[in-house]
Amino acid sequence: MCGIVGYIGKKQAAPILLDGLAKLEYRGYDSAGMAVYNGEKIQMAKATGRLKVLSEMTYEGETLPGTVGIGHTRWATHGAPTDSNAHPHFNETETIAVVHNGIIENYMKLKKKLEDKGYQFSSETDTEVVAHLLDYYYKGDPLEAITKIMHRVEGSYALGIIFAEHPDVIYAVRKDSPLIVGRSGEGSLIASDVPAVLKYTRNVYFIENEEIARLSTEAIVFFNVDGESIEKESKQIEWDIHAAEKGGYEHFMLKEMNEQPATVRDTISPRIKDGEIVIEELGMGDEEIRQIDKIHIVACGSAYHTGFTSKYVFEGLARIPVEVDLASEFRYRNPILNKNTLVIIISQSGETADSLAALRMAKECGVTTLGIVNVVGSSIAREADKVMYTWAGPEIAVATTKAYSAQLVAQYLLAILFAKVRGKIDAEQVSTMLHDLKKLPDQIELLLSHKERIQKFANRFIAARDVFFLGRGIDYAISMEGSLKLKEISYIHSEAYAAGELKHGTISLIEEGTPVIAVATQNEILKKTISNVVEVRSRGAFVMAVTTEGTAEMEKTADYVVYIPQTNAYFSNSLAIIPLQLFSYYVAVGKGCDVDKPRNLAKSVTVE
Ligand code: M6R
Repeated sequence: MCGIVGYIGKKQAAPILLDGLAKLEYRGYDSAGMAVYNGEKIQMAKATGRLKVLSEMTYEGETLPGTVGIGHTRWATHGAPTDSNAHPHFNETETIAVVHNGIIENYMKLKKKLEDKGYQFSSETDTEVVAHLLDYYYKGDPLEAITKIMHRVEGSYALGIIFAEHPDVIYAVRKDSPLIVGRSGEGSLIASDVPAVLKYTRNVYFIENEEIARLSTEAIVFFNVDGESIEKESKQIEWDIHAAEKGGYEHFMLKEMNEQPATVRDTISPRIKDGEIVIEELGMGDEEIRQIDKIHIVACGSAYHTGFTSKYVFEGLARIPVEVDLASEFRYRNPILNKNTLVIIISQSGETADSLAALRMAKECGVTTLGIVNVVGSSIAREADKVMYTWAGPEIAVATTKAYSAQLVAQYLLAILFAKVRGKIDAEQVSTMLHDLKKLPDQIELLLSHKERIQKFANRFIAARDVFFLGRGIDYAISMEGSLKLKEISYIHSEAYAAGELKHGTISLIEEGTPVIAVATQNEILKKTISNVVEVRSRGAFVMAVTTEGTAEMEKTADYVVYIPQTNAYFSNSLAIIPLQLFSYYVAVGKGCDVDKPRNLAKSVTVE
């Protein structure tokens, strides 16, 4: 995720900005930049790559003299990781500089309007819109211009802004993207995360949604979106630097699980415009979508599990036959591909060796390839014919959680879009599904808030040797991911089984006390899964069931029931996976495992 720092005070700004940005490096980035007011004008320096490049380029900040500045580490979303896309961004006269975290959802519309008024853009970013829009509204009063753009800009943003005509202040603005401000003895600071300021102060103000802070050397004052002055209370940060990097969470995995509501929202909401699904970067016309006669979904690990779910969604909604393959199998199995086949490669990192090789093989066969990728500018993103990004931000824990959730919802959007274009669903059905999709972030948040219940339950399984996960259809796909999460971080052997397949062998492994997790969110096959739960319980299994609210039958059958809120059956994975992630996490913590870096595993598997 991008990082923001800002400083105004008695000291040179650039070294403080570089130091703050270094504290945010753990968040992941691909380029960095700074803008500093030198007494006459705003000077800027930006560089692709590590912060060290920017630091060396500016001689540790010496070439950017001045006591007022903003800095940024960028994790590319809109536009490749290049110098010109790096932040800060200027207005045309270079009198306003902006750094931004988040996504400006209506940037295309705003960009078009600004271009019609003669503004020229020099980057592919959504952020540059903010700089030009500020310029458009600025008539001498920065606060007035800022409040005006806040009424125009949709999406999420944390902004740091400096105006050359007002070099005695910097502005911090926030909506749905974190931002803090604080005062040290010699000045005031902005940061997107606590570690960047801990060296200077432990006393910070958390900017809330649609609030503005104006920082000067001596003071910080706050305003609401209407420019009215407001009072805020500061908070004392008690965490040490390592805890601060994790936002106070014990592990990155826990932090990332808690980021899922935002991740899902960021992946969905910019793609829903006036009740329609618009995936801007996809570049697939209706005719092209109509011609697809088969989809191959190819991926590894958790990404493969999301494909396993979306097979049901694509087939059910768009009525396109789907095959799902592990990339390491696909690349060697000589699959039958024709010119109307679409090969979808799913990858968080965009660098997984087998997935990349499968993509290249598919391209050699002349079929259209689509990458669903999290890392902008990664190999799969660059080489696939089409790309759709998941906007999960960088994921640090080896066990994927938020990228998994983003991959799922990206595929739901695609499936709904394909179904609509192919005439398999009507506008009303689309609208009902979009309504359900938009509810997912809040529903995930609710499930996360019940973590103590799952923790209590997980504590019973710390000594388990084997755990079985059961489900049918989409519930089987959820079980596969639940099982992988458990084994990779807790080192407990687990297996996911299609519930109907139990009797063909696996049931002989069930004995007194064997933990079984049954996923039963699909109403149409609920009774079938319940029968399988009865079968394992009567052989001594201890069963936790994950099912949908209002399904009382499970209560009588399982030992412990976790309910997920009602949603469209196709989207249930997005909710049912949350208690399973929490379960694995708490079992692993209880066993004292290295949750974020499980043994023998790497975050990005770049070898075959
Ligand atoms: O970067 P990718 O999405 O291509 O990675 C694929 C798998 O290696 C990955 O999902 C792996 O299974 C996760 N660490 C599981 O939590």
